[in-house]
Amino acid sequence: TEPLRVALLGCGTVGSAVLRLLDEQGADLAARIGRPVEVAGIAVRRPDRHPGVPAHLLTTDAHALVTSGDVDLVVEVIGGIEPARSLLLAAIGAGKSVVSANKALLAEDGIALHAAAADAGVDLYYEAAVAGAIPLLRPLRESLAGDQLRRVVGIVNGTTNYILSRMVETGAGFAEALAEATELGYAEADPTADVDGFDAASKAAILATLAFHSPVRASDVYREGISAVSATDVARAAEIGCTVKLLAICERVSDVAADGTSTDSIAVRVHPAMIPTTHPLAAVSGAFNAVFVEAEAAGQLMFYGQGAGGEPTASAVLGDLVAVARNRVAGVAGPNVNAYAGLATRPMADT
Ligand code: HSE
Repeated sequence: TEPLRVALLGCGTVGSAVLRLLDEQGADLAARIGRPVEVAGIAVRRPDRHPGVPAHLLTTDAHALVTSGDVDLVVEVIGGIEPARSLLLAAIGAGKSVVSANKALLAEDGIALHAAAADAGVDLYYEAAVAGAIPLLRPLRESLAGDQLRRVVGIVNGTTNYILSRMVETGAGFAEALAEATELGYAEADPTADVDGFDAASKAAILATLAFHSPVRASDVYREGISAVSATDVARAAEIGCTVKLLAICERVSDVAADGTSTDSIAVRVHPAMIPTTHPLAAVSGAFNAVFVEAEAAGQLMFYGQGAGGEPTASAVLGDLVAVARNRVAGVAGPNVNAYAGLATRPMADT
């Protein structure tokens, strides 16, 4: 049978893990999808920096690759807004289904990308963009689509959780713990995105958008990072039976007017918080992530697992790749999030 041909954009920590898993599990994936998957090309900025990758697959012309008639599916793991946005829009416009791990892009332009995908009748999946290996976005957008969500609260940045955990467990200094997180492949290329809460704010925006069926962008999220958290803060928290975690909190809030009518809106924030050591989130250490979901009918749910690192993130990318490839084989497109209830996001000063 004809293989499904995949273009890979980017070949860093996650991209190289995707390639390795595709290679190791090719036969199994082919059986699960019903057609073999083949890598058609890999777009990178510096081909000389990827000695382990077959040279004939490497290209610096990402646009030509994603619009090529030889490509069925595009996997984007380059991160950042541009050139990722233009490349994904070009790919979607050329009828390719897209898998992305790009939280910054989805948190800024997810609405436009979904609209483009819906117009083109292709898939846009991005499970790896939030909480690495943890299945979370498809549960929100599919399994819980019949319920009303109240809150989504979690630890969604592995680097800061690693740093805070090391500060608590070993009294390690901030810089030392950050260097370890970078070494382990958890941190972003620019770790201020982790430390200052931008990464968590992007993830919170994506979670809130899917949880509340309303467009929320990273710029709507109140944000405080962990750079002001000191060893003394961590020690004081411990004295009163608490630990410090960087939390992402997405809530549906109701305002009741004088005449009794109520208006719902969404409050989304990221900040360090003291939580009791008996709280389940207190036990989430290292690069693990955990997310609580409270829904009207389902009640409380908790999602837990590895939120960062090449292989865990690649697992989520491959899961999406299988879903998108199966849809392609069946000649259908999966659910596209283009119908919004339109709850407004509340300015943080009001919450
Ligand atoms: N830098 C991110 C983190 C990677 O530390 O969680 C996963 O998105």
